[in-house]
Amino acid sequence: MTEFCPGYPAPFDALVADYPGQDVYPSADFRVEWGPVFHRGRLDGSARVVVLGQDPATHEAISRRILVGEAGQRVQGLLAKLGIDRSYVMVNTFLYSVYGQGGGNRHEDDEAIAAYRNAWLDALLVGTGATAVVSLGQLAETAYQAWAATQPAAAARLHHAPLRHPTYPESASRAGNKTLAETTAILLADWNEHLPALRDHVMPDGMSQDTLYGTGWQDGDLVRIPQADLPPGSPSWWFDLAAWASRTGPDVQTKRATISVVVPRRARLWPVLPTPTPPTPEG
Ligand code: URA
Repeated sequence: MTEFCPGYPAPFDALVADYPGQDVYPSADFRVEWGPVFHRGRLDGSARVVVLGQDPATHEAISRRILVGEAGQRVQGLLAKLGIDRSYVMVNTFLYSVYGQGGGNRHEDDEAIAAYRNAWLDALLVGTGATAVVSLGQLAETAYQAWAATQPAAAARLHHAPLRHPTYPESASRAGNKTLAETTAILLADWNEHLPALRDHVMPDGMSQDTLYGTGWQDGDLVRIPQADLPPGSPSWWFDLAAWASRTGPDVQTKRATISVVVPRRARLWPVLPTPTPPTPEG
């Protein structure tokens, strides 16, 4: 039997039926054309950890679930270190992918964006079995604090771990004077710092580990996306560790309009027939 994400039970069905569009998320700053991507994980009340990410990227635009690409696999690995295999749910700060430099920061305090996000966080965090919230990056931390101010009693019962974003190493090394190895070590030290308190506040549903990260990614630190998280019929390579979606095109307009989806080599299981040799011209 193949597991799959069963979709959106109440009250989430009403939230996905009535989501903010371009009037709230301007298309100058958000890739509204790729549609909203709402969540990944359990919506049946069994989530013990709520992960608040930033915004969807290419793999998420295609699979229609958040944190599916490399960032998601890093987070899945973090959950595994807490002994959490299934009992989690993830939502993003922004429903749409941020476009351009500073797009996210410009909309950090937008009330209409926060109102819709808070409706999700209320449904996930008020009177549920969630005991901890992991926010990924500064925008997610601000979003969590904005929600907590509206629900102080619920927030007081939760452990909040404000983590660096899983793609901090790539963005920080691109931006500045640190190497990717250095920024990766900074991320992992930050995650290590938060792991003990998270373990104290989260009841494992699987094999609990007591290991920490090293100074670089090691085997087992990235974990495949569980099948139960993606829509029915998702091809097996969508769960895989190999990247399969990227923005392509010779100019910014084409690139914004195009996501290339390529079946990873390992997943090309079709028979390869010899290419027929073209007929030679007569004479
Ligand atoms: N993909 C998401 O959906 N969220 C993130 O924060 C990063 C990648």
